[in-house]
Amino acid sequence: MWDKINTMDRPLIDLPPARILGIESSCDETAAAVIENGRALLSNVVASQIDIHTQYGGVFPEVASRQHIRTIYAIVDEALQRAHLGLNDIDAIAVTRGPGLPGSLVIGMNMAKGLAVSSNLPLIGVNHLEGHIYSSWIYQNDTPNPPPPPQFPLLALLVSGGHSELNLMTSHLEYRRLGGTLDDAAGEAFDKVARLIGLSYPGGPSIQKAARDGNPEAFNFPRSRLEGTWNFSFSGLKTAVLRTVRELESRNQPLPVADLAASFQAAVVEVLVSKTLHAARIYQAKEVLVAGGVSANTALRDAFLSQKEFPVQIPSIFLCTDNAAMIAAAGYYHYAYGQRDPLNLDVLPTWALS
Ligand code: KG4
Ligand code: ZN
Repeated sequence: MWDKINTMDRPLIDLPPARILGIESSCDETAAAVIENGRALLSNVVASQIDIHTQYGGVFPEVASRQHIRTIYAIVDEALQRAHLGLNDIDAIAVTRGPGLPGSLVIGMNMAKGLAVSSNLPLIGVNHLEGHIYSSWIYQNDTPNPPPPPQFPLLALLVSGGHSELNLMTSHLEYRRLGGTLDDAAGEAFDKVARLIGLSYPGGPSIQKAARDGNPEAFNFPRSRLEGTWNFSFSGLKTAVLRTVRELESRNQPLPVADLAASFQAAVVEVLVSKTLHAARIYQAKEVLVAGGVSANTALRDAFLSQKEFPVQIPSIFLCTDNAAMIAAAGYYHYAYGQRDPLNLDVLPTWALS
């Protein structure tokens, strides 16, 4: 029923010791971090612009790029300082090349190029989605028992504000996209539904908080399963919430915000978990990986972690949303496999992972 796996596996290589400085500015977080040998976190600095964008109910691109310009130099400086390192202790600069807001990406890219030129370091452009995947294996540098390295093939569910997709990862840096959302990304659905029920931006954390006091079975919202494909669709669910809200309002009833939030969250979690596990079975994955901003959701984490069929890798909560440690981590593997990008590297605002 499903076509055969046909990807070009990477050969196993001896991974070199290296420290990578990562820079991320694809959306509304200005971030810099240092990662050693692809997984050990030496420093991680994130300047969030959420407070600035909340007044607009979402990210205002022009405002985001201006804010990146204001903060990026200090953020990079702080990342090096917290790692107790100078640029001469760094082996390469990894930077988010895309996908993301063009004006925001350019700020990080130019910062990375400036550092690469002035310090004579290699420049490595990294896909932001790949960064989310690599965030799953990062551990604090002083952790006595680091979590195990990835086992391939693995099934990766990537759920963020801009993307929801299932990828089969067959070795380091090799992906096969199985499917993705046909309309809203999972995070986008959280953000839109939060607005519908009167909760603040970003919607994911607001819905999670409201859902704590709600009944997930209060409303039986639709689960769009799109059987026979690995795609997702959240627009029907969003419309169902909208219809329910309108109906309650037309009857002058107060909105049961907690119940609406809990029922919506339960519908999203059920579809994401059942589809991912199904794909993992079909492709005989050795493990499942969940990453991206929505992987911070406790209901989603609990659902994945409570099943015993597959080992699950999920980033620490502070690494689920955008950060530069994940860019440095993915950048390390590109560095190890020999990627060196030219200094005229351009940003790719719509860059797909595979
Ligand atoms: O990965 P991310 O920081 O940015 C993108 O690359 O898009 O993801 C941001 C998204 C937002 O839509 C936000 O509402 C969602 O992740 N999010 C959550 C939670 N925390 C962030 N969604 C559900 N539950 C959460 N706890
Ligand atoms: Zn992201």
